[in-house]
Amino acid sequence: MINPFRYQDQILHCENVPLPRVVEEYGTPVYVYSAQGILDRYQAYDSAFGDTPHRVCFAVKANSNIAILKLLADAGAGFDIVSGGELFRVLKAGGDPEKIVFSGVGKTAEEIEYAIDSNIHSFNCESEPELDLLNEIAERRGVKVRVALRVNPDVDASTHPYISTGLRDHKFGLDIETVESIYQKANALPAILPEGVSCHIGSQLLDHSPLLESVQKVLQLIRKLQSQGLPIRHLDLGGGLGVAYHPGQQTPSIHDYIQEALKVVAGSGLQIMVEPGRSIVAESGALLSRVIYRKQSPQKEFVILDAAMNDLIRPSLYSAHHEIVPLVNTDRAVQKADIVGPVCETGDFLARDREVATMNPGEAAAILTSGAYGFVLSSNYNSRPRATEVLVHGSEFRVIRQRETLDDLIRGESL
Ligand code: LLP
Repeated sequence: MINPFRYQDQILHCENVPLPRVVEEYGTPVYVYSAQGILDRYQAYDSAFGDTPHRVCFAVKANSNIAILKLLADAGAGFDIVSGGELFRVLKAGGDPEKIVFSGVGKTAEEIEYAIDSNIHSFNCESEPELDLLNEIAERRGVKVRVALRVNPDVDASTHPYISTGLRDHKFGLDIETVESIYQKANALPAILPEGVSCHIGSQLLDHSPLLESVQKVLQLIRKLQSQGLPIRHLDLGGGLGVAYHPGQQTPSIHDYIQEALKVVAGSGLQIMVEPGRSIVAESGALLSRVIYRKQSPQKEFVILDAAMNDLIRPSLYSAHHEIVPLVNTDRAVQKADIVGPVCETGDFLARDREVATMNPGEAAAILTSGAYGFVLSSNYNSRPRATEVLVHGSEFRVIRQRETLDDLIRGESL
């Protein structure tokens, strides 16, 4: 798979756009995304399925900019949403409601009503009270809703504890050992069509095997349910495939993962759904930032950027690694430094004790692999306006979200 961010003549480009041009035109911090990078990865999922009935539902939580959702909707993608807000975004972007699945452990009555009235495809339901509420709301409206119960296959995803979801003591899903009786109950409810089974064991998995183990367990459950007369037609495998953040890592092949999963489900006749987020957008995005100051303490060198934890929280929250490289890659000495932002928290760093190319004040750097869980997790902490977002197509680029202004910061507030 081609990396959309590459050096050409020592200048970092996104597709054919030299990134210093974006910085000159729109300032920093700025998120830049490659349309081709996103489409290539979506197509990798879609084409790996071949003739098997399937649906690739992009996990909107990874990047919810409506221009990116539109790009994917136009390519035929479905969407995995977890809130009424995400549903609103998908509909604004022209997404097909028939291709939307609604996941999440705490859907409110208002969100369920909004989703039913928008005619979404199905709900991934995570508890009995949610099932009852779905039934009640659908019955009141005189409609039937398709439901997949999210089962918890008790598989260890061996990823960061905050993004691991498939073990029994996690808040997600229903216990696979006891879910059969809930399926029977669902089947008896007048407004529920229990047509699917869904699962999701965690995120940033660099190895397919836990995902495949989970498919095997869930398939066994489906066979049992079908033998008990349940009309199970679809299996939703969730998201989870990781990407290489460290230079030493390798991004797992989307094609190989899907092929392996298809071997497990071969002959089942099920429609297979997946909900990838990170693996579609992470490598197609970078956060560009300028060095404001360099500062030397007796112990350490600090490089102070104009991007901070409010722009990209992954290093602070998950100890995540993002490569940081200068936009202009002349021969430079390498130094060990903490790369930090201006936010008043010791936890505000983008890298710690990192060997990086020496960069001087005024110079711009790219924080790579930031297209997923980057902008979406950004905030106005320290009253910092949120960054600009730019989408690159070939040699062209355009703003898909303007930088926030000071007035945006106080919108909705009153004296
Ligand atoms: N489906 C469900 C039900 C999910 O909970 C998630 C992610 C996905 C799909 C998409 O998973 P992906 O393909 O992106 O791994 N903020 C964290 C990641 C949180 C993931 C939450 N759920 C991070 O920055 O690493």
